[in-house]
Amino acid sequence: MSSEKDKGKKPLADKVENDHEDSDEEASGTSNFSLEFLGRYLANKLKIHSDDTPKEKILEEFTIDGIVSHINKSNCKNIIIMAGAGISTSAGIPDFRSPVSGLYHNLQKYNLPHPQAIFELSFFHENPRPFFELAKELYPGSFKPTICHYFVKLLDDKGMLLRHYTQNIDTLERVAGVPDEKLVEAHGTFNQGHCLTCRKAYSQDWMKDQIFSNHIPPICEVCPGVVKPDIVFFGENLPEKFHKSITTDFSKCELLIIMGSSLTVQPFASLIDRAPDSCPRLLINREKAGHHSGLSLFGYGGGFEFDHDRNTRDVCWLGDCDDGCLALADKLGWGDELKELCKKEHERIDKEEAETKTIKKEETTKKTTKL
Ligand code: OAD
Ligand code: ZN
Repeated sequence: MSSEKDKGKKPLADKVENDHEDSDEEASGTSNFSLEFLGRYLANKLKIHSDDTPKEKILEEFTIDGIVSHINKSNCKNIIIMAGAGISTSAGIPDFRSPVSGLYHNLQKYNLPHPQAIFELSFFHENPRPFFELAKELYPGSFKPTICHYFVKLLDDKGMLLRHYTQNIDTLERVAGVPDEKLVEAHGTFNQGHCLTCRKAYSQDWMKDQIFSNHIPPICEVCPGVVKPDIVFFGENLPEKFHKSITTDFSKCELLIIMGSSLTVQPFASLIDRAPDSCPRLLINREKAGHHSGLSLFGYGGGFEFDHDRNTRDVCWLGDCDDGCLALADKLGWGDELKELCKKEHERIDKEEAETKTIKKEETTKKTTKL
């Protein structure tokens, strides 16, 4: 995973590498290797198009209504969602980069060389404590999924979800019932952990127990190595499932929805350029993100084209993710179903939590009576 510092490096390398099989004969059969050809060749390789290529308009209008009309007309069965921390803020989990409330603006107590160091492997080797202290605050189990998470679940129930790619490590998609095969946790999760030395696997419960009993950092049971949750740190590779899934999913994508992400971390951010030209892309976010940077390679470039005359398919809906999902669900005729699902599931989670608390209380009482 790489940050804004080296934005562009990894995805470029990734794409050129992954697309090698596609059309190499096009390059080798050309003797007039002009700059123009190089531009076209790279654009083909990178699946991006020239600024001046006339393009067919995909959406009737660049609004949620345009997206709904596309869904209804083309009977979409292959929707991909790309999500970031913004889909979990209404659950009470801070995002990373929002001014004031973002996690990276609130880490002073850890005395880090810079905020992102908390997720950097090199710093973790030096001092793992800040990460585990933060993990206590963010640990899954204390938060409930949001309307957004249940919107994804509903899309799957309706047979319309091809895949949900999330950068989040809070596991709320799983809690909402999105099945494992539909889920790509691109930056890993707290779900499992490994010893950094011998790679022995540890369960979420084991790590939670260690972290909350202040055994920080948790130490492996068979060697002196530190056990780290399988969260992808800066400097680590993304999971194999991510790389496998992107090679087949995006060419099939009929609608791409991006929610609650600043689209600043690579290679995740540049996935938006993998959707075919015919695929509409909807951003639901508090701020514009991922738009065409203005930078281009021989006149070619990636990113959303919200504000461009040449836009054929990009919609930017600015506001809270939950409201955006509700607006979309309402227009699709599923608004009440979504609200009902969220209410029912929250009641279920509350009930289960209350039961667990009662059991724990009873166990503590039994222990103290015995003493
Ligand atoms: P960011 O914090 O970078 O971006 C969150 C985006 O969501 C911002 O554009 C916010 O404006 C927007 N936002 C916040 N709350 C919202 C809401 N309720 N409704 C709509 N929009 C909202 O988070 P990510 O893009 O997810 O890595 O960050 C990517 C990666 O950077 C993370 O996965 C993390 C971090 O380093 C790891 O945890 C390993
Ligand atoms: Zn070990």
